[in-house]
Amino acid sequence: MEKQKVHYSELGLVNTKQMFSKAMAGKYAIPAYNFNNLEQLQAIVTACVETDSPVIIQVSKGARSYANETMLRYMAMGAVQMAREAGSKIPICLHLDHGDSFELCKSCIDSGFSSVMIDGSHLPFDENVALTKKVVEYARQHDVTVEGELGVLAGIEDEVSAEHSTYTKPEEVEDFVKKTGVDSLAISIGTSHGAYKFKLKPGESVPPLRFDILDECEKRIPGFPIVLHGASSVLPEYVELINSYGGKMDGAVGVPEDQLRKAAASAVCKINIDSDGRLAVTAKIREYFAKDPKEFDPRKYLGEARKELINLIKHKNQTVLGSAGNA
Ligand code: G3H
Ligand code: 13P
Ligand code: ZN
Repeated sequence: MEKQKVHYSELGLVNTKQMFSKAMAGKYAIPAYNFNNLEQLQAIVTACVETDSPVIIQVSKGARSYANETMLRYMAMGAVQMAREAGSKIPICLHLDHGDSFELCKSCIDSGFSSVMIDGSHLPFDENVALTKKVVEYARQHDVTVEGELGVLAGIEDEVSAEHSTYTKPEEVEDFVKKTGVDSLAISIGTSHGAYKFKLKPGESVPPLRFDILDECEKRIPGFPIVLHGASSVLPEYVELINSYGGKMDGAVGVPEDQLRKAAASAVCKINIDSDGRLAVTAKIREYFAKDPKEFDPRKYLGEARKELINLIKHKNQTVLGSAGNA
């Protein structure tokens, strides 16, 4: 059977345009939470409805092959429906995280995504421009918004892995935005993907993000939405819980919340969070199994994990990103 083409408006989804202009004016950031399964998506919707926050639900290439693209589209549609039945009007955007080819972005646009990222950050500037522009030209025809990236984050970005980060060069951003026509731009200012963001020696604290680079970028593209990837805080309570119940995550460290609050008040309009959710889920499941080794009903331990994820997302929206109350 051939895959059915669907436009995101039929699913009740929205693109990022209005979300970002409101976030820029209101000095907060839209949360972008990754999901791969039912419990994660239920937690995201529940927490964002309860905090009245706009939300971007995002899917990586890995999530797409884990959960199936068509299944994901219907899950997103279910998420919108679930919010509406709860009496909430929160805007929900379905976004492709770290798209690595035109074909992948096109496939997502055709299957109901309302926003895509084309990550050409590992390519030479001109090739990044050419690839991004091609995606923008296709996306425009469907009113889908596009995120591009300049500068490389350390850590694993799906199949692309970089050992060291390369900060964004502010002198390139204006040219990139003009030539490609992107709607938002991810930049590299010291964050990285995963749970081990900084290698700290005993007694050392986390180095501050490069707000000077962020400022320089803002000056060159005033009022333009900037995106921060690798923005998990790797909350110590989860790392401790994981380690105390048999896990081995020594040295896991993330971006302090006060730095993310500062970023959210700037032109940073979208903040990506995945690892923090993974840690919360893993911590609660490890704890559950250790305390109740006889239990074998997944609803019990996944239910506990989901509850924790709801608390975490509410905290992010209310205290870190400032998106709560802004739907
Ligand atoms: O940027 C990476 C995201 O955390 C997605 O991770 O490729 O393992 O699904 P993933
Ligand atoms: P974290 O690994 O810090 O959660 O970053 C997620 C991300 O950037 C997804 O694109
Ligand atoms: Zn990312």
